[in-house]
Amino acid sequence: MRISDQEMMVKTDLPFHKAPPYRTKVVEYTIPTTRQQRQEIMKKHGYSGRLLPAKYVFINMVTDSGTGAMSDRQWSAMMEGDESYFYCRSYEYFEEVAQNYTGMPYILPSHQGRSAEAPLYECLVQPGDKVPSNTHFTTTSAWSFQRGAEPVDFVEVSYFDPNDTTSQFKGGIDTEALERYFELHAEKIPLVDLVVPNNLNGGMGVSMKDIKETRRIIDKYNKRGTLLCLDIARISENAWIIKNHEEGYKDKSCAEIVREMLSYADCCHMSSKKCGLVNMGGFSAVRDKQLWYRMQPKVIRTDGYITYGGMNGRDLEALAVGLVEGVNDYYLQDRQRQVEYFANACKKRGVHILEPASSYAVYINAGKCVPHLDHTQGPATCLSAQAYIEGGFASTAMDSLQRGRIDPENPLDTSKRIKAPYELIRCAIPRRAYFEPHYDWAAECLARAMAHGTKLPAFKPIADDRPPLEISEIGLHTFFDDYEPVTPLP
Ligand code: F0G
Repeated sequence: MRISDQEMMVKTDLPFHKAPPYRTKVVEYTIPTTRQQRQEIMKKHGYSGRLLPAKYVFINMVTDSGTGAMSDRQWSAMMEGDESYFYCRSYEYFEEVAQNYTGMPYILPSHQGRSAEAPLYECLVQPGDKVPSNTHFTTTSAWSFQRGAEPVDFVEVSYFDPNDTTSQFKGGIDTEALERYFELHAEKIPLVDLVVPNNLNGGMGVSMKDIKETRRIIDKYNKRGTLLCLDIARISENAWIIKNHEEGYKDKSCAEIVREMLSYADCCHMSSKKCGLVNMGGFSAVRDKQLWYRMQPKVIRTDGYITYGGMNGRDLEALAVGLVEGVNDYYLQDRQRQVEYFANACKKRGVHILEPASSYAVYINAGKCVPHLDHTQGPATCLSAQAYIEGGFASTAMDSLQRGRIDPENPLDTSKRIKAPYELIRCAIPRRAYFEPHYDWAAECLARAMAHGTKLPAFKPIADDRPPLEISEIGLHTFFDDYEPVTPLP
């Protein structure tokens, strides 16, 4: 019989702060490779974590999205999946769990995060609108562009201070700038979309204070029913940061903190491939029944009926169980411990990281690790590729070369790429998948890569025969652009 949700939460004196509160039942083998093979694989597959065949990766931290291990509780719940088309039993179960998790009454399942964003953006955003955020995830800015609107990021100012290594809430929104923006454009703002935590800016946390202040600003200037929306892919992990670093939350459970964060919001969308602990899944939730009704036809048009949104009944079951496991305090404590272990393994070897380490990833400050390459030469692109050659470790380069805005007239001219505040490699940690020796080896790969110093070459974009992206899709260039080193990697 499955361990119940209640049993997973009882108080204990077991050392769950030192070792995971679970053990392994199924394992996945890695194909052994040699350095020479990895050099060939890299060259053949475009020097990017995105293009590498995953079977040749030893430690894969390209993303934490859908890459976690499900529990025995989730696998056994899947057997109970009801595959009826309309109002399957699994939907009823999932709906209740999602309502409880979010505190919102109206739920729409979707197969992943971006399909949860779709009906919201389609209903709320009109041409000429402006959509502020702390930093939109790639797909929410793409949805704004698609709707003929402009996504605008107001990044918390402390994020830009490289000497501030302790502030825990550098992922927030610059509320002063937001307020000034509302004074000018309130009638053009359909929603503010806060990403908690801020994935594209070092995975930094967002404070409860920032969420409340954003709510205050919206209420003060509201001219058209502006909504506060949270992008909650990793909200449980953000709640862990609040619990440990914001005054007044120490004694609250992360589930309570998640509900409080969402109590200030009108709606949310979730890629459940992160804190939902599933390999595929998502949902949106809203308070307003009329909005829920308006979203429904959009779901039917692309993803199926409103009770499954592109998911199987068994997927809904796994997600219902995963949402609760993913917000369990013992589990979150262990996750933070793993992230910190890896962050320290990097620091011990002289690999510069962005601090504080977030609650789900370690972001390597490649600009500092490879100082002879400037922002147009892809220091993170290079270090990430070299780390794979060193020991099969894959990560995501998020530097100015990869993510900067491109000139649509001349996409190969990198001199116009906007300089990012930091040249980052994101090492996103899959959930419940790796152990300490993996983290040590991943850090070792980065350190060995870094030790090549000035032998590490600049990268440049490669021309291909793809038609140019449409203007509204240009922000997605990072998924299609390919790069190569100007001289061979060491
Ligand atoms: N919002 C955030 C904050 C995300 O990080 C992602 C995906 C999405 C929305 C979209 O969700 O992929 O399920 O459609 N992030 C992945 C990543 C891809 O690697 O950061 P999705």
